Amino acid sequence: MKNVEIVCMLVVGLFLYTSSALAEEPSVELGKQLFNDSALGASTNVTSCGSCHPNGKGLEEAGYNPELAKMINRCIEAPLKGEPLDEDSEAMKSLMAYIKTLDK
Ligand code: HEC
Repeated sequence: MKNVEIVCMLVVGLFLYTSSALAEEPSVELGKQLFNDSALGASTNVTSCGSCHPNGKGLEEAGYNPELAKMINRCIEAPLKGEPLDEDSEAMKSLMAYIKTLDK
């Protein structure tokens, strides 16, 4: 194999590696971050989910709620004065994943 081919493969490999690492995957970690982010849902006030549910307090049963996504959006629209999230978005999936870890 020629050196130039090896270099090309390395460049392509590196590109694939970084683009997959940068793609946002739903995760509990991201959900926790968003939960404590007052800018969630393009909210402009200082309230985050954590203001009323510190460390998820009171949401221990919420992971079992079949309407979880709707409850999350209701709390984004009312106290946060933000825009509801698409129920299939990475942010919503991450918030749901985080809330599902809260059951004790
Ligand atoms: C101003 C206070 C406040 C803020 C901020 C807030 N919530 Fe709530 N949330 C409540 C109240 C009050 C309820 C209804 C009573 C309860 O279950 O504690 C509730 C209920 C919920 C429920 C349903 C609980 C269940 O058992 O089914 C979920 C899920 C929830 N909130 C998630 C969130 C998320 C996610 C955020 C951030 C986007 C958020 N909340 C921000 C006050 C708030």
